[in-house]
Amino acid sequence: MKTQLLIIGSGVAGLTLAIKYAEAFPKKNVIIVTKGNEDESNTKYAQGGVAVVLDDKTDSFQKHIKDTLISGDGLCDKAIVDMVITEGPKRLRELMLWGAQFDLDPTGNLDLGREGGHSEYRVVHYKDITGYEIERALLARVHQLENITLLEHHFAIDLITEHQLNQTTENTTCFGAYILNQKSGEILTLQADSTVLAAGGIGRVYGHTTNPMIATGDGIAMAYRAKAIIKDMEFVQFHPTALYTNQEGSAFLISEAVRGFGAYLRTKSGTRFMPNYDARAELASRDIVSQSIDSELKISGDSCVYLDCRHLDVEAFKNHFPNIYQTCLENNIDIAKDWIPVVPASHYLCGGIEVDSHGKTSITNLFACGECSRTGLHGANRLASNSLLEALVYAHNIYKYHCENPISKVNRELPDWNDEGTSIPKEHVLIQHNLKELQALMRDYVGIVRSNDRLNKAILHLDVIYNEVETLYKTSKVTTTLCELRNMVNVAHLIIGQSLKRKENKGGYFNVDNL
Ligand code: FAD
Ligand code: SIN
Repeated sequence: MKTQLLIIGSGVAGLTLAIKYAEAFPKKNVIIVTKGNEDESNTKYAQGGVAVVLDDKTDSFQKHIKDTLISGDGLCDKAIVDMVITEGPKRLRELMLWGAQFDLDPTGNLDLGREGGHSEYRVVHYKDITGYEIERALLARVHQLENITLLEHHFAIDLITEHQLNQTTENTTCFGAYILNQKSGEILTLQADSTVLAAGGIGRVYGHTTNPMIATGDGIAMAYRAKAIIKDMEFVQFHPTALYTNQEGSAFLISEAVRGFGAYLRTKSGTRFMPNYDARAELASRDIVSQSIDSELKISGDSCVYLDCRHLDVEAFKNHFPNIYQTCLENNIDIAKDWIPVVPASHYLCGGIEVDSHGKTSITNLFACGECSRTGLHGANRLASNSLLEALVYAHNIYKYHCENPISKVNRELPDWNDEGTSIPKEHVLIQHNLKELQALMRDYVGIVRSNDRLNKAILHLDVIYNEVETLYKTSKVTTTLCELRNMVNVAHLIIGQSLKRKENKGGYFNVDNL
């Protein structure tokens, strides 16, 4: 198969780019491959909203820029922060033109919420299911455009570069990707003039996460194996308030917007502890709130802290957060009377594939946008609701780059996927064992608070898992679960390795040996 533009991923980043490119170049083809159902993505679960400066009476670009820089703890790229934030309103209007709905206030203006680290109300939202609405609107537009082919249940295994052609080069070029049709088992050689990784985050590397099953870091791992520059992987963001249950795995998020709405954090004994840690109390940035909760839990030995919403207007709460209200009820929590038990959970990766302001990676004809990319916007800790914004802006920048710099056709004979000497693995259970071990390792040794000793132990354990998984990979017919596990091992290696290199605590990175 051949295409002008191959996009890997159908979240906000991939879909936005596909629409813009397909509208501008009706004679060119776009192929989107996505490994699950078309809407399955981190985007679909976004709650709080999109941070944009709209109210110029109280807010300003300067204030949003300042909040982003403070949250990033000195490691943001100021020029990128300026660019993304000033582009925000235009990109939001475009999204609305494609049909995305957002809540209005009683005067008919967009209703603005507030979250941790924001000095003003500036988060545009649709109830507490903003991502669901964005994904719905983007997919509806994608399906109207005839030059976009969206292939669901198609898993990108690896990028195609000179490596597959057995050539050596100083300057790697991407020629497309090998794609597994997850239903038929066939592996396609998909040749593309331009390839874009929009494959999202890494939450599943930690067992306890707000992310859905698709967030296995595939885009970052593929880029890493192709030798792209990967940066800032130590900055894993833990969301402070995931609903606490006894179950492992996906954790339901209680949006930071609930604290923006006035909820308090309390220990089991009832103490409101955040004012002791930061003058912004519950609305301190996410790294500070997560680290404070971690510290409280270590002192008390409790399993969770609590969000207290009892003093809030219940009807207004239900109206603003219907999904959270309902999910709490299903867990026997009536927010009018009960506290919500919460714990931090892995949520977002601030680092990823390094890109310039056009979304270009260090590999020719390979671009990246959205959560798998590292743009310089977030620094050491992302400001809440800046992620959807970043994805919209970088999808636009990649599109603009293609308008101004047409990419020439790839004309190469690309080899088909070679699976000689491989067979169907006899024991799939090994993959599950290795995954559990990996997730336990990341949770126990590479969590919110790290130490050199734990990180070094983590490397040793990871090497054992790595060797087992590589052996399995080299001798097995590829499956989605095996490839995902391999990718998560690569991502874990990057997180631990880059953690050990950081000698100063910043934002979401906290190592007791750096004190
Ligand atoms: P995603 O939306 O994750 O999409 C990635 C796509 O790539 C998926 O379609 C996936 O199936 C596909 N894919 C991955 N690997 C492969 C492969 N190997 N082959 C083929 N396809 C592949 N951010 C905000 O700004 N505001 C919020 O309110 C907010 N709330 C959030 C709430 C939750 C619960 C979560 C989990 C995140 C939240 N975030 C929020 C973060 C934000 O949602 C994500 O960072 C953003 O949606 C990422 O978009 P994306 O397009 O980069 O990736
Ligand atoms: C939330 O609603 O708390 C998540 C916001 C984000 O991750 O930006």
